[in-house]
Amino acid sequence: MGRESLTGRVAVVTGAASGIGAAVVDRFLAEGAHVIAVDVTDPATGRCEALGVTGDVSAAATWERVEALARAEFGRLDVLHSNASVVVRAPAHELAEDDWDRQIAVNLKAAYLAVRACMGLLEAGFPERGAGSVVLSSSVHALAGLPGHPAYAAAKGGLVSLGRQLAVEYGPRVRVNAVLPGPILTPAWDGIGEEDRRRSAAGTAAGRLGRPEEVAAAVAFLASEESSYITGACLLVDGGWTAVKDSA
Ligand SMILES: NC(=O)c1ccc[n+]([C@@H]2O[C@H](COP(=O)([O-])OP(=O)(O)OC[C@H]3O[C@@H](n4cnc5c(N)ncnc54)[C@H](O)[C@@H]3O)[C@@H](O)[C@H]2O)c1
Repeated sequence: MGRESLTGRVAVVTGAASGIGAAVVDRFLAEGAHVIAVDVTDPATGRCEALGVTGDVSAAATWERVEALARAEFGRLDVLHSNASVVVRAPAHELAEDDWDRQIAVNLKAAYLAVRACMGLLEAGFPERGAGSVVLSSSVHALAGLPGHPAYAAAKGGLVSLGRQLAVEYGPRVRVNAVLPGPILTPAWDGIGEEDRRRSAAGTAAGRLGRPEEVAAAVAFLASEESSYITGACLLVDGGWTAVKDSA
């Protein structure tokens, strides 16, 4: 790995049971962080070094448990990666109201609930340990329209705005940034056929789908002091997908 930039840091990661969240947990642990892994399904499977919290990130009660655990176990919190997500694919006129509400709640409201519960701990390390770091998992859907994702795209766009807002509000004590992944091969792609995968890969400058570990590397950078002068920013991790689209 080469660098140990998260040694001794305490991090919360949501959506930790699968895909990008699981890769971030592994990366954070490999860099020496203490990790609280949160997911609606068992988040700590195969990762006995992480503390697991099973809960719905769109419920305030989950965040009370997470904050209490960080306080009791470590007395501090340095990094919050809000990453859990659900997507229901349907055009707006066919999307059930419950599915709209659920996607906004899990993808967007959860970030607010997380910050509301955890900001006190995140701020407390400044200036001795540097600024706390919040990383929000947005998406290229925040920037480009793709059919069938009205609530998901609205939530991901909201996370970009929320990140900027929080960066201004809580700087310099806490930095807040968003990662915008492009097509990353995770279990979220299980229902997507070969032809669509091939088309997505061909739509990138990299010529392939991304790996969860490649997003985890970007999250680790934003979580660490190596990004100490980066806040309110969006970091694309999309293999050049948006660059190709912008060039069309
Ligand atoms: N994979 C991609 O191509 C891609 C592209 C752009 C953005 N993203 C974003 O990256 C993040 C991770 O995506 P992924 O592909 O790893 O997804 P994934 O589907 O593999 O994992 C999502 C995780 O979130 C958990 N989760 C869902 N609802 C929850 C809830 N209410 N409370 C707690 N946990 C809950 C799931 O159980 C799952 O473990 C998401 O925010 C996603 O929108 C992914």
